[in-house]
Amino acid sequence: MKANFLPFSVGPRNCAGMNLANLELRLHIGTILRKYEVIAPPQTTRESLKMEEYFFLTPTSHKIDLLFKRKLTL
Ligand code: HEM
Repeated sequence: MKANFLPFSVGPRNCAGMNLANLELRLHIGTILRKYEVIAPPQTTRESLKMEEYFFLTPTSHKIDLLFKRKLTL
């Protein structure tokens, strides 16, 4: 899966902003996970997360519902 995961494409015309985008993603995901507890609500099940593959890989439900609960900070 890792070898076929090419969101920024490859080759001489691949994404010029790849390093910046990866840095931003790490920063934002880290910030969100530090501040929020992420919970899968009852409608998010193994079944709803099963993958469907046509042009894009997507969950069969075409969505991933998540709850973000603010963590208590001192
Ligand atoms: C998650 C974020 C991003 C994704 C998934 C993404 C993905 C892509 C893809 C698939 C291409 C086309 C490559 C090709 O034609 O083979 C592309 C091109 C490009 N991207 Fe991104 N990109 C992202 C963020 C950014 C950012 C943050 C910048 C700039 C700050 C950027 C700048 C560019 C440029 C300039 C090109 C054209 C490169 C060229 O044609 O030589 N991208 N990107």
